[in-house]
Amino acid sequence: MQAVTTIAEVREQVKAWRREGLTVGLVPTMGFLHEGHKSLIVRAAAENDRVVVSDFVNPTQFGPTEDLESYPRDFERDCKLCEEAGAALVFHPEPSEMYAPNACTYVNMDELTHELCGLTRPIHFRGVCTVVSKLFHIVCPDRAYFGQKDAQQLAVIRRMVRDLNFDIQIVGCPIIREEDGLAKSSRNTYLSAEERTAALCLSRAVFAGQKMVEAGERDAKTVLDAMRAIIEAEPLAKIDYVKMVDFENIVQIEKIENVPVLCAMAVYIGKTRLIDNFIYDPAEDAGCGCGCSGDSCCCCGA
Ligand code: PAJ
Repeated sequence: MQAVTTIAEVREQVKAWRREGLTVGLVPTMGFLHEGHKSLIVRAAAENDRVVVSDFVNPTQFGPTEDLESYPRDFERDCKLCEEAGAALVFHPEPSEMYAPNACTYVNMDELTHELCGLTRPIHFRGVCTVVSKLFHIVCPDRAYFGQKDAQQLAVIRRMVRDLNFDIQIVGCPIIREEDGLAKSSRNTYLSAEERTAALCLSRAVFAGQKMVEAGERDAKTVLDAMRAIIEAEPLAKIDYVKMVDFENIVQIEKIENVPVLCAMAVYIGKTRLIDNFIYDPAEDAGCGCGCSGDSCCCCGA
């Protein structure tokens, strides 16, 4: 596995692979990799001939009071994990390689980005869309892999790819959790032992909400109230938001009908802001789980 720091090196390597007729998958990350990131790389390695992982703490997606400086970093450990997971190349640029001092072009999205995390983090998705577009132009992958952990980001990237005609397949991957349920996150390292225990209120609320919906509850407020009550019972937790939205458009909904919904939350545990969610697709519930909709399932007839 190679580790490179310049855009020119990535381009040269990807061009060489292309000349051999190989397919390329991209896994964009901010480093300090864990099993969640690893699952994306393993999936990408299974579905592409070569995998590029980008490892870059992107300054443009952090607000002025956020944790850009303190964001955890361990490039050596990241390289080991990438290699084990089957990556062929890790791209680890300096901020100056990615952004010229007078860079002034951004990718802005009007819809989808003003709800959920976009309310608390107003410039976040502009930074994400900009850096992901740049990575797409640098790597030109066939497929790019994103976790459902950042479900709004996944919806935003899918919309950007559609709107700007990137010829790239976006693959969404499930949330990887610790054994006790906490969604894996680079930011979990900020938690003290007491906060780590308190943080379990997020996954408890997610599982409880998901169970209600799977049992047939269709009223968003009923589900959200039950989820909020679980979090509010935890003294160290402070809710930023707990909301239900239409997953494609990120617009709040009152009733679950026939489109996939995202039930997402951001919660402060002490000073650390954590996110978690579940997605419910009524079409998947209609049949054997193949994802087809309609009165009878396309493969099992259920
Ligand atoms: P980062 O937070 O490092 O996450 C990189 C990718 O890993 C994202 O697609 C995220 O959803 C996925 N991921 C993180 N935790 C996960 C978990 N527990 N289970 C499954 N997938 C998980 O997201 C970013 O970086 C940045 O915004 C980026 C897209 C790289 C742009 O800078």
